[in-house]
Amino acid sequence: MVGLGPGNWEQMTLRAQQVLAEAEVVTGYKTYIELIRANLTRPDQKIIASGMTQEVDRCREVAHMAQLGQSVALVSSGDAGIYGMAGIMLEVMAQAQLTIPIEVVPGVSAAAAAAACLGAPLMHDFVTVSLSDLLTPWELIKKRVQLAAEGDFVLAIYNPKSKQRVNQIREVQQILLQYKSAHTPVGIVRNALREGQEVRLSSLAAFTEEPIDMLTTVIVGNSQTKVVGDCMVTPRGYKL
Ligand SMILES: C[S@@+](CC[C@H](N)C(=O)[O-])C[C@H]1O[C@@H](n2cnc3c(N)ncnc32)[C@H](O)[C@@H]1O
Repeated sequence: MVGLGPGNWEQMTLRAQQVLAEAEVVTGYKTYIELIRANLTRPDQKIIASGMTQEVDRCREVAHMAQLGQSVALVSSGDAGIYGMAGIMLEVMAQAQLTIPIEVVPGVSAAAAAAACLGAPLMHDFVTVSLSDLLTPWELIKKRVQLAAEGDFVLAIYNPKSKQRVNQIREVQQILLQYKSAHTPVGIVRNALREGQEVRLSSLAAFTEEPIDMLTTVIVGNSQTKVVGDCMVTPRGYKL
């Protein structure tokens, strides 16, 4: 299970590059396969790109190929174990009672990539929350957002808004405004560390007016987060 990082080849770990070079089969969601296809140059390597929402089928197929003795690299964007494929793969293997050796290769997560684009907003305690309610009830997501806000955590918001799911980000904004100042800095990063990167700084009161989609990670500061020049910084507390 290979975490590709944000997408550019040079942002990937050396181990990830090594595994991708050695695997007999490379498979994953087609958007992610396209990010790396140009770097997969071995003519004998099989590349299988599949559609979204076929995650369990994809893992079963990987298990089947591995059982036949093939070395298979299943790719996820960012880190394979953060809203990625690693957990599903391990569950599928356990269900099928397979004991094939598995390596989880970590990658630069979207939260880390977006934070790097913004400066240093994750210098203190933070939580990640995905607003995707496909597998998690919306009421539970809202409760987690509320508790994170109550605890004055910095929030890294994944899957913030899709074509079908447009209002949740505003609901989240309203929850956060009950606990955080309207002036709290918010960073909006689209396509972090890959082609098409867009970085915007806004405030809790205004950030939903910015373009936000499923290629975006939103970082909401804590009560100490400030804008320094054109960077977003959450102080750790050092006396300067
Ligand atoms: C299914 S999650 C995948 C998370 C990934 N496994 C990780 O560790 O970052 C997809 C969400 O990650 C975020 N994301 C992934 N890559 C990104 C990038 N390069 N720039 C900004 N956000 C990104 C977006 O919020 C997107 O909707």
